[in-house]
Amino acid sequence: MRIVLPNVAAVLTTLSLALGPVPGEADEVATGRALAERHCSRCHVIGDFNRFGGIGSTPSFQLLVDAFDDWQERFETFQARRPHPSFVRVAGFDYPDPNVFPPNASPVEIELGDIAAIRAFAETLKKQ
Ligand code: HEC
Repeated sequence: MRIVLPNVAAVLTTLSLALGPVPGEADEVATGRALAERHCSRCHVIGDFNRFGGIGSTPSFQLLVDAFDDWQERFETFQARRPHPSFVRVAGFDYPDPNVFPPNASPVEIELGDIAAIRAFAETLKKQ
């Protein structure tokens, strides 16, 4: 007797095609929006949330997603791009001295999954 194992990847692909957009995608965008409003709007303009806020010399999220072809990578690695390393701490990662911040810095403490959520939210800002 021959046992036929289903091709798991094919089954999952069929399932996800049948279900349409991945469930939870809207949740991820909402989470990303809340995270961006809380942690990033101090310096960046975040869509409609603080259209006249942020810091003038800091690029708006809108500008970043529209101006750069590699904007996704920039969001995925923002914590390693200046000026963020001096105040962003991602849970679970090692830092030379995690609790030392420049004077007046307000630390931003996030988790790895938050970065994907913020990127998913940023994608909704992109002009079609
Ligand atoms: C204290 C101010 C400040 C906060 C808070 C801040 N940023 Fe930034 N961010 C900046 C500045 C300033 C730049 C521009 C740096 C440059 O052009 O050299 C920047 C640039 C970026 C860029 C583009 C980086 C590149 O190299 O092109 C991304 C992506 C970004 N920020 C994401 C975020 C996210 C996501 C958050 C919130 C979790 C955040 N930032 C919070 C100040 C801040």
